[in-house]
Amino acid sequence: MIRCMRQEDAAAVLDIYRDGIDGRNATFETVVPEWEAWDRRHLPHSRFVFGEDGGVVLGWVALTPFSSREAYAGVGEVSVYVRSGAGGRGIGTQLLGAVVASSEEHGMWTLFSGVFPENGASIRIHLKNGFRILCQRMKVARLDGVWRDTLLLERRSERIV
Ligand SMILES: CC(C)(COP(=O)(O)OP(=O)(O)OC[C@H]1O[C@@H](n2cnc3c(N)ncnc32)[C@H](O)[C@@H]1OP(=O)(O)O)[C@@H](O)C(=O)NCCC(=O)NCCS
Repeated sequence: MIRCMRQEDAAAVLDIYRDGIDGRNATFETVVPEWEAWDRRHLPHSRFVFGEDGGVVLGWVALTPFSSREAYAGVGEVSVYVRSGAGGRGIGTQLLGAVVASSEEHGMWTLFSGVFPENGASIRIHLKNGFRILCQRMKVARLDGVWRDTLLLERRSERIV
């Protein structure tokens, strides 16, 4: 069910991203980017989708580099999104597990996510995949004009030492 993301998944990936943006509980983004911008922003490796037999894509995961500085080459930020209506079936947990494994295969040692404290499902799938809560950033940015907190969750690989 989990497979590498392909170019032809672009429309589904952006559709699913739109669901997350519209929910106003996943990201500070308010506009769905063009595919080219999405593609530039994310690392080329460790991109996965969850696809059903009929070819319907129900979720995706990808990584954004933390920094262009060489010292931080192994640090990436996680984005994981499941199609509205397909939540609660274990898809997010599996996608996160896949990106963790792949990131380690590619020599990455730290993954992190900024998660709204209200996003219980996201917190849960991160904790299940070995992330820990580092801190709560207070009123770190505004969404629709309202200051929001985020929890910073991080996973340090025990394989890359
Ligand atoms: C967060 C998201 C990826 C989770 O995907 P999912 O496929 O629903 O996740 P799963 O089904 O694998 O697991 C959800 C877990 O959260 C739990 N959960 C659901 N709602 C919860 C809540 N409000 N509070 C606490 N736990 C909750 C479920 O019980 C389940 O845990 P369990 O397996 O131990 O029972 C999905 O909800 C999503 O795409 N949301 C919008 C985008 C988003 O928020 N992305 C993350 C940005 S940081």
